[in-house]
Amino acid sequence: MKLRSYRGLCTSLAVLGLAAIGTVGSFAEPPKPTRAEFMRQKLEFSKKVLEGLTLEDYDAIAKNARALKLLSEAAEWEVPTIPNANEYIALTTEFQKAADDLRMKAKEKNIDGATLAYLRLTMNCVSCHRFVRTPK
Ligand code: HEC
Repeated sequence: MKLRSYRGLCTSLAVLGLAAIGTVGSFAEPPKPTRAEFMRQKLEFSKKVLEGLTLEDYDAIAKNARALKLLSEAAEWEVPTIPNANEYIALTTEFQKAADDLRMKAKEKNIDGATLAYLRLTMNCVSCHRFVRTPK
């Protein structure tokens, strides 16, 4: 009985401690990455895909394709800030499909298929930049 209440105390202290850390943690939360930081990260992952393609390192291709997809999904919060959001969403969807395809082709160890998917992905980067940079 005594042991049990001691354990109970320990548990409550641990819970309190965690709650305190949680509170401090939320104050210390890092600021949201900027769009430029997101895009620089995209560039890094794309370079790694190219490296994977040239080395026929299918694991690296698949891993970085997945990272690109997740990054694109994580950036969806900014869609409402973009004029002509429909076009932007279509380009984002295409980007994510190309990233999925790239990952699948890497898993199948299909180098030609992966290279084609990479081309589609890169063309999508350029299309979206043309779209956002062309004054309406
Ligand atoms: C769906 C739209 C979209 C796609 C797809 C996209 N980008 Fe971007 N990108 C943007 C926007 C919006 C900006 C900010 C506007 C600008 O720089 O003109 C940007 C800017 C950038 C920048 C400049 C960042 C800076 O330092 O200012 C880089 C680098 C970049 N993108 C890389 C990429 C790469 C690599 C890909 C493909 C793997 C990609 N982007 C795909 C929308 C997109």
